[in-house]
Amino acid sequence: MSTLPLRLDRTAAVPMPAQLATQVRSLIVGGTLLRGDRLPSSRALAADLVVSRAVVEQGYEQLVAEGWLETRRGAGTFVASGGLAPPPAATRPSRRPVERPLVLLDTGTPWIDPRQRAGWRRAWREVSAVAPPPGYDDPRGLPELRVALADRLGRTRGLVVEPDEIVVTAGTGDGLRQLLRVLPPGPIGVEDPGYRAAAATVADAGRATVDVPAAAPITSVRGLAGIYVTPAHQHPLGRVMPAAERLDLLAAARAADAIVIEDDYDSEFRYDVAPVPALASLDRERVAYLGTAAKAVAPALRLGWLVVPPALAGPLQEHRLVTHDGASWPAQRALLTLLRDGWVDKVVRAARRTYAERAPRVAAALSPYAELAGPLAGMYSTWLMPEDRAVAARDAALAAGFQVGLLSSYARSSGHTGLVIGFGGVSDAELDAALAVLTRALAVGGPARPDPAPPAPRD
Ligand SMILES: Cc1ncc(COP(=O)(O)O)c(C=O)c1O
Repeated sequence: MSTLPLRLDRTAAVPMPAQLATQVRSLIVGGTLLRGDRLPSSRALAADLVVSRAVVEQGYEQLVAEGWLETRRGAGTFVASGGLAPPPAATRPSRRPVERPLVLLDTGTPWIDPRQRAGWRRAWREVSAVAPPPGYDDPRGLPELRVALADRLGRTRGLVVEPDEIVVTAGTGDGLRQLLRVLPPGPIGVEDPGYRAAAATVADAGRATVDVPAAAPITSVRGLAGIYVTPAHQHPLGRVMPAAERLDLLAAARAADAIVIEDDYDSEFRYDVAPVPALASLDRERVAYLGTAAKAVAPALRLGWLVVPPALAGPLQEHRLVTHDGASWPAQRALLTLLRDGWVDKVVRAARRTYAERAPRVAAALSPYAELAGPLAGMYSTWLMPEDRAVAARDAALAAGFQVGLLSSYARSSGHTGLVIGFGGVSDAELDAALAVLTRALAVGGPARPDPAPPAPRD
């Protein structure tokens, strides 16, 4: 065995060797590790968990002292094969299996290269050394940050904008909310299946949502004030909107005088081909562009950016002046340093490499049992299969401590069913363990059966 499904929290009050010992102990108690099983070497496990070797050695030593593990000279560390010594009272496991937090294989958690932590700390040190603006800052956001974002959008998304055309937001949802305030009245089209937060935000704004089939060309948007789409990587079907469909969508939006709302959440994470330029680069008058720091920096930073069509910029700015809507200054200031230092570029490059390596592993495990929706891109993949098989696999994963998504939970009126599997927020060992559980569950039902046909596209 080269790796173990462990997760250490550097910020927890419990020291990391003790966390490691507790989790290995619970793997033994829960039957994942059996008597005589060989544990990974301290060097291999330390590399996998991105901790020092001493953390693993101390954790192992603790378990050897308790009688759970034994070392065999020259052969390695093993689960004790002879009568396991009872653990000391303080660490004796309860009769119930030790509860581990669910490992989330979700679409929203990115992989952030742990080797870049020093750059992250440097950015926040810099924030602490600068005085904040004395009053409310420019409602569009920190001017220097908008310069850095304009540079990045031009470089990575083919979107040439002036810094003054960018509004810094508190993430995609916030950007969408701001936009909905200044769009003319009327319903909003939202992809189906699609991003749940977008549909919820439209409903919260008191607007009617019109379900737009996500896997089909959009040729008419008549009657809509706007239409929300994820053309670079349809969430969650993964489809990339072909060039001809992009032109048709823009023509339909012009004919209906509607605004296309482009959510460009994970477009940088293509590893087969170069990212497709933003839809907004084709028509700045018609497309409102939403970007996020959630994938390349951290979802918890709550930062994003919005490029509005020129006609909406004035009303949006006036509204923000009155409401003081704006992104938090320290977060903006930190992002500025992370962009200027090249930190974001490095994290994106490293994450792309990690996803490029993990996505085919997920594909190798799932493809005998299900059909891949869309190309392999980003930090999740979606697998089409009948609902009963998807639910059985999801339940088996849950019982083993892993959470994967049901495609049906992203669908409103569409009949798409299957599994949505994220691979950004897990370790390699956790991913392998989750895939083993899923394939075992899917194998019970035999090889892939055709998915029920999705409903006919809307005209
Ligand atoms: C489709 C989509 N858009 C945007 C986001 C990011 O949203 P926010 O910037 O509000 O964190 C996500 C996060 O998972 C997403 O899946």
